[in-house]
Amino acid sequence: MLTKVHTGLDPVPGVWWKPAHRAEKIWVAVAFVWCMVLFAMMPLWHWRGGQNPAGIRTRVKPGDFYARTMEFAKQYKVGEDRGFPIVQPPPGSDVYLTGLTFQWYPILQLVKGERYRLHMSSLDVGHGFSLFPMNVNFQVVPGYDYALDVTPNAAGDFRIICNEFCGIGHHTMVGRVIVLDEKGQALSDNPGARILGGRP
Ligand code: CUA
Repeated sequence: MLTKVHTGLDPVPGVWWKPAHRAEKIWVAVAFVWCMVLFAMMPLWHWRGGQNPAGIRTRVKPGDFYARTMEFAKQYKVGEDRGFPIVQPPPGSDVYLTGLTFQWYPILQLVKGERYRLHMSSLDVGHGFSLFPMNVNFQVVPGYDYALDVTPNAAGDFRIICNEFCGIGHHTMVGRVIVLDEKGQALSDNPGARILGGRP
């Protein structure tokens, strides 16, 4: 026996037009309320979250940004760690950090409580700036100079972890940020110092 061939012109066979079950209605209501909560959180978090970018961004050619970073590193270099310059810019200055496969360049040495304008960009693909163990995350993309006004509120020896998959060496892309205490002492020279303000 031939079964009737269903075309788009015929109504769909089934029971979809029957009233929804009570459980389904409850689920739709719960999902809708939750959507509204999340919808309201977006603008609310802009004001209450305290974790917004400074809104300073410009287009930049990767080569130009790299040249600027190299110049910055040369100007304020105070030491070296495994070939990477340790750079300590004066408080209030512009700080440059370049992400590239698979490193963060250079090593930054900042002072707790001082304000800096941190510029970040990538030379190749998208990278994720994640300051460990603090909860600071930022996207670093090529072609754009993103700047953040930062004031380190904890002294310590921090790591920058790349949290955006960027290639075969992604897991090795670790950088370093040293934050000296108010007296300008490093954590290692200061046995009483510990990481404050972040999650352990
Ligand atoms: Cu850079 Cu992952």
